[in-house]
Amino acid sequence: MEVIVLPGPDDVARVAADVVADVVRRRPDAVLGVATGSSPVGVYAELARRVTAGDLDLSGVTAFALDEYVGLPDGHPESYAAVVARDVTGPLRLDPARVHVPDGRAADLEAAAEAYERAIADAGGIDVQLLGIGANGHVGFNEPTSSFGSRTRIKTLTARTRADNARFFASPEEVPLHCLTQGLGTILEARRLLLVAQGEAKADAVAAAVEGPLTSMCPGSALQLHPRATVVVDEAAAAGLTLLGHYREVYAAKPAWQRP
Ligand code: F6R
Repeated sequence: MEVIVLPGPDDVARVAADVVADVVRRRPDAVLGVATGSSPVGVYAELARRVTAGDLDLSGVTAFALDEYVGLPDGHPESYAAVVARDVTGPLRLDPARVHVPDGRAADLEAAAEAYERAIADAGGIDVQLLGIGANGHVGFNEPTSSFGSRTRIKTLTARTRADNARFFASPEEVPLHCLTQGLGTILEARRLLLVAQGEAKADAVAAAVEGPLTSMCPGSALQLHPRATVVVDEAAAAGLTLLGHYREVYAAKPAWQRP
């Protein structure tokens, strides 16, 4: 696993955007996995800036969201369908027809989950999956004890995650209890994983995911199984890492041909 520790959130956004931009430069019809929540917002803003400046063209890209709440009314501004449309599809000038979000309003959620898996496979799999991490170590909405082999399915959000996400809703009770999320097995099939984390609230989760044991109690530790996982964190989110000095040395000595 590559661990890149940078001074602040703007640096995290820039370096993560470099990775995505590099993937798309090599393959203009790349398939991106997109996360929602606060962590990737700066990355999307940086990508949007490059698109607006004419330095990057994402119009050929296909995108798959990681997850969606179950049961929010159609058009709810905090449904991930709405968030992805607002923060990703529009600003990055993606083709809306190529942007996919699990259908959390489906009458048959199991069928919707299977259809989502099929759609990812039909698109040729995900080239680069952007990830955030929950304070409890979840990635996607794979809460602790999620199977490393899990596929897209219905999950129940933990009280901790619902409390963390209450900031997006008028009241904590409004945060749905259930979601559809890509499984850890689905995520691990992406050809590249790119996890971003900022701030001290993520320090324990980052340390557990990067340096802790491989355990379903920290779903983010599944990244240790991936042949090409990059974790980009700011100083505050890196505070719990024991090999901090080593990560800095490795990144400083990274050969130019290996960047970004
Ligand atoms: C969002 C997602 C979650 C978030 C995580 C961190 O699609 O899958 O795993 O990445 O909850 O959320 P933030 O970034 O809001 O701290």
